[in-house]
Amino acid sequence: ILETAVVVAVDGPAGSGKSSVSRQVARRRGYGFLDTGAAYRALAWHALEHGADTSDSTAVLDVLGDFDYAISLDPDDRWVRVGDVDVTAAIREPRVADAVSGVARVPAVRQALTALFRALVAASDLPAVVVEGRDITTVVAPDAPARILLTAAPEVRAARRSAELTSQDAAAVAEALHRRDAADLKVVDFLAAAPGVEVVDSTDLDFDQTVDAVLAVIDRALEAS
Ligand code: DC
Repeated sequence: ILETAVVVAVDGPAGSGKSSVSRQVARRRGYGFLDTGAAYRALAWHALEHGADTSDSTAVLDVLGDFDYAISLDPDDRWVRVGDVDVTAAIREPRVADAVSGVARVPAVRQALTALFRALVAASDLPAVVVEGRDITTVVAPDAPARILLTAAPEVRAARRSAELTSQDAAAVAEALHRRDAADLKVVDFLAAAPGVEVVDSTDLDFDQTVDAVLAVIDRALEAS
């Protein structure tokens, strides 16, 4: 009998540290790591490549048909591909970040990508996968034995983002983050924890403390399950 990987579900807003924290958690435990936002970003990149208007859901659905997506689940080997193109760096560009909310709000896109995430986890031969996003604890893996919402105060999130994007003006980063949060919140309420989801607030924690806090929640949850 094939055992499917255990899902550790982590949700949170942009700049909460959820990607880097989840990746480190996966490394520390020998788990896989799945950044689901990368798929939304890659689809937005794919739509832009086709010259599609990402605010038009029909145009987005048109390009979903030939979206050939692959991603590494290895926390130490990071790559994302669309067809033959390595888009690991391109999906982090501001033009993609600006287009991604339009893509993510199309219900058929969410259904298709949710099915894709479940298939990626099911096909892995890992004991567990840390799956990180906005709707993992609620939609993608509501039955996961460990579910965590990682939060941080808005000013702290903006400061972390601008430290990451050193080439960009801090005020512009804060403004872009705020705009994207507002657009994303219309689709999924990732600021409120669903029943049974544990909140880890990283506002006053540094990176290592946040990783330890998340690991403590996971260990407790997996022991109880
Ligand atoms: O986490 P991120 O910034 O890379 O996410 C990119 C976008 O994808 C973000 O604007 C919200 C969307 N997203 C989503 O709607 N659902 C997810 N599970 C993950 C990301």
